[in-house]
Amino acid sequence: MIQTKATINFNKKLNAKYYQMSLTCPSIAKGALPGQFIHVDVASKKVFLRRPFSIYKAGGRNIEILYKIIGAGTEALSEKKKNQTLDIIGPLGNGYKTEEINKNDKVVLVVGGTGIASLFFLANRLNSKKLFLIGAKTKTELVNIKELKDIGCNVKVATDDGSKGYKGFVSSLLKKTVKKEKISYIYACGPKPMLKEIARISKSHKIPCQVSLEEHMACGVGVCMGCAVKIKEKESFEYKRACKEGPVFNGQEVIWE
Ligand SMILES: Cc1cc2nc3c(=O)[nH]c(=O)nc-3n(C[C@H](O)[C@H](O)[C@H](O)COP(=O)(O)OP(=O)(O)OC[C@H]3O[C@@H](n4cnc5c(N)ncnc54)[C@H](O)[C@@H]3O)c2cc1C
Ligand code: FES
Repeated sequence: MIQTKATINFNKKLNAKYYQMSLTCPSIAKGALPGQFIHVDVASKKVFLRRPFSIYKAGGRNIEILYKIIGAGTEALSEKKKNQTLDIIGPLGNGYKTEEINKNDKVVLVVGGTGIASLFFLANRLNSKKLFLIGAKTKTELVNIKELKDIGCNVKVATDDGSKGYKGFVSSLLKKTVKKEKISYIYACGPKPMLKEIARISKSHKIPCQVSLEEHMACGVGVCMGCAVKIKEKESFEYKRACKEGPVFNGQEVIWE
């Protein structure tokens, strides 16, 4: 875990709400793994705590994040300009496990909203067959699909309003997919109700599944317990910290509440 000043290379607006930012921070870029995140001081008088963002890309001296404006912190981030610096901590969290994945496996990566950031990085590092399912409210919220195709993903889209691709939740699209195709593994990142449903589908089809939880975080480094989630442990459960033991967990071990 490193705390460093990172210089902004670009902070590109992708659509009304989404931005992509590149930061020079060689010490973090070197060791970053898919599923890990950075904790960013957005340097705004209105925002007290750091904000967590998945590492979208890491290579050479740089990392990238992909974020959506939802409040004061992300608003402040969107106003940052090239050559400004941000104080960041990372890489944080455990990241996805991939030891069980072989070249001939078909892996499904399922995302809702900003979950794309976390799973793009994983897709980029996997050399198996990759089906990427993206869920969004409407087509104008979809970003960077070409980048996903460029790294070898077969991309399918689900929109709540049917403006692009399958009409309905991305979890329903997953359900149809696992009925038709032999899937070896599922990875998912997005809102909790979506992850809960994906964990249920993976259990009923006996497909292993890892989920990345976007919990609210305070310290981000394992000290405050603000991000505790209930994880099954034998006949009982124990609290684990999403920022330290997570954010990635076995979907069958999360106690969904
Ligand atoms: C490990 C991790 C990785 C993440 N990766 C990304 C990413 O790659 N891209 C991205 O855009 N966002 C990501 N997030 C979410 C991001 O951290 C929040 O959107 C951000 O902190 C919001 O800050 P804000 O000040 O703009 O909004 P706030 O003012 O803090 O919040 C605005 C509203 O959104 C709700 N909210 C805030 N954070 C969350 C959350 N984590 N889950 C559900 N509701 C929330 C608040 O309750 C409030 O109602 C990630 C979160 C975690 C924990
Ligand atoms: S956010 Fe403080 S322990 Fe996880």
